[in-house]
This record gives sequence, structure tokens and C-alpha cells, in this order.
Amino acid sequence: MTITAPTTDAAPAQDDGEAMFDALIEADGRIEPRDWMPDAYRRTLIRQISQHAHSEIIGMQPEGAWITRAPSLKRKSILLAKVQDEAGHGLYLYSAAQTLGITRDEMTQQLIDGKARYSSIFNYPTPTWADMGAIGWLVDGAAICNQVPLCRASYGPYGRAMVRICKEESFHQRQGFEILLTLMRGTDEQRQMAQDAVDRWYWPSLMMFGPPDDDSPNSAQSMAWNIKRFSNDVLRQRFVSMLVPQAAVLGVTLPDPELRFNDETGQYDMGEIDWTEFHEVLAGRGPLNRQRLQNRRAAHDEGAWVREAAAVYAAKKSVARTETAAA
Ligand code: 3HC
Repeated sequence: MTITAPTTDAAPAQDDGEAMFDALIEADGRIEPRDWMPDAYRRTLIRQISQHAHSEIIGMQPEGAWITRAPSLKRKSILLAKVQDEAGHGLYLYSAAQTLGITRDEMTQQLIDGKARYSSIFNYPTPTWADMGAIGWLVDGAAICNQVPLCRASYGPYGRAMVRICKEESFHQRQGFEILLTLMRGTDEQRQMAQDAVDRWYWPSLMMFGPPDDDSPNSAQSMAWNIKRFSNDVLRQRFVSMLVPQAAVLGVTLPDPELRFNDETGQYDMGEIDWTEFHEVLAGRGPLNRQRLQNRRAAHDEGAWVREAAAVYAAKKSVARTETAAA
């Protein structure tokens, strides 16, 4: 069944719009910016997409800190490209959120005021080069598991932005794996450095998927609206199943003594995640929450002249266009 959204400029009356919205969701169709949508659907999308955008922007910091210290020119240019990709992901996502009626300035203000969430994972430190490998393998790997299903999110601009983002995340994951593989083929010290980084990032990467299903207030409604396609626990389990064979290739140990395949369930049994740590990080008390936000605020302040210059340039162009049109 093909269901098409209204094509007139006028917004549809609520009753028609609601019926159209329900039918599109039922048919697994796409909602576009000018379609009628429930306020709660709009709010949920603004919440999730803006949090995601903020995560990409804050996520530039842990790796940005290693650009000047990457061990070769090649590693430096790869890392630089990866950090630039993350800035690009943030921009696509802010643009997708803007189609829902929030401005980029509002979202930025919420972030720098400490009122918006961003992913817990970016509040952890990166003390060694091996952390670049572990972030790529584990953090980008978790991002792929979580985000590939979002390419089918019911909101068109979000789903389309995710297609490109996932392609780039896939490259990020492979470069992380390759850094770890190189270290694991190196000296004893390099192997130890890789293992230590995996130990540091494994549990926080599992937390990226969000709280357990029975403690996730948003999942049921987001899944009913086809925004999320799978629950937090289902994606976490999928991620671990992906990691186990890759860890064997790398020769690293995943730091969970209770991790084993359960023949009866066909899934991996895992140790308990430290949810107290997760909630502490969400409450702003993670290892580097304060520093990440301070850096973001400083970058925003230092960029004020660029925004002002761009605004003056845009205003001058607009005057010139008006004068040309009037001539
Ligand atoms: N870090 C911070 N907050 C988290 C979180 C995490 N790891 N997991 C959950 N939360 C927050 C939720 O945002 C929600 O807060 P709110 O209600 O105050 O907004 C609360 O905890 C309850 O969680 P729910 O499971 O009910 O929330 P969601 O249904 O929104 O699910 C999610 C959480 C799975 C993270 C989902 O929002 C999602 O899939 N988001 C899109 C992907 C995303 O944002 N990824 C962030 C990482 S970006 C990245 O990986 C960059 C790359 O370059 C590595």
C-alpha cells in the first residue's frame, strides 16, 4: 500500500493529519517535515536528534586531543579526517533537528548551559594512543550497532542523515580495529597498552546503548513510532555477539569474566553493568564531564567572531539581492 502525504501548502487539519500520520506509521512509511505529527513525536525526535548531534560535537574532544600526538603523518591525517567526520555528523543532525522547529542556536545554548544530554561515553579520558584504537573499535562499533537501524527511522530527515553517518562510522570502526591489530602485533608493551585501553572502554561502550529495557522510559513509545527499531538490550546483545569473534582475531580479552555463550538462549550471558557509574556520568559526575563542557563553552566563545562575520556577510548579500531584484 502506498500512502502519500498531503501536498498542499496549507497544514492539514489535525483530524486528517492524525489519520495520515497513523496510517504512515502503520505502513512503515516516512514522516516529512511538513506533515502533521503529534507534539510528543516532535519532542521525542528533537530530544534524540539533538542529543545525538551534541554527542558528535563533544565526541570530537577525546580524539582531537591526540591529533598532534599521533605516531605518524598517516595516522595523523586519518585521525584528523575522522574528527572532521564527527563535526559533519553533528551538522547533519542539527540540520535534521531544525526541520522540527528548533534552531541551532537554541540547541547549542542548551548544550553549553549543561541542560542537554550527550552520550556518556565521551566523558572518559584517553591517556594513550591505544585509546584511539579502542574508541574506533568499541565506541564506533557500538555506534554502528545502534545507528544502522536508525537509517530506517520514521522521520525522513533523520533516517536520511543516518545513512551517510553510518557509512563513515564503518570506516571509523575499521581504523580503530586496525590500530589495535597493529599494536597487538607489536612489542609486549604495545600489546599491554592495547589490552589496557580495551579494559577501559569495554564497559562504558556497553552503556552507550542506554539503560536496561525495564528502566528505559522512552523505548516503548519510540519503537511504536518506528524511531527506534530495537530495544537497548537487544542492540547491546547484538554488539557483544559482534565483538567476541573480533576480540579473538585481535588477541585481546574482553574484561568480563562472566561472558560466555549460552547454548540454551543462543545469546551471550554477561556480567552486570555498573549502572551506578552510568547514572553518575549522566548526572554530570563522570571523569571528564566538567572539562568537556568547559572546552565546548570556550570553543563557542572563541568562535563568536566567525558567527558575527558570517551574519554580517549574509545580511550584506541579502541587501545586494534585494537591490538587484528591485533594479
Ligand atoms: N548517554 C547519555 N544519556 C543516555 C545514554 C547514554 N549512553 N543512554 C540513555 N541516555 C538517556 C536518554 O537520553 C534518556 O534521557 P532523557 O529522557 O532525559 O532525554 C534517558 O537516558 C533514558 O534512556 P532511554 O533508553 O529511555 O532513552 P532513548 O529511548 O532515547 O534511548 C539511546 C537512548 C539508545 C541513546 C537513543 O537516544 C539513541 O539511539 N540515540 C541516537 C544515537 C546516539 O545518540 N548515540 C550517541 C553516541 S554518538 C556517537 O556514537 C558518535 C560517534 O562518532 C562515535
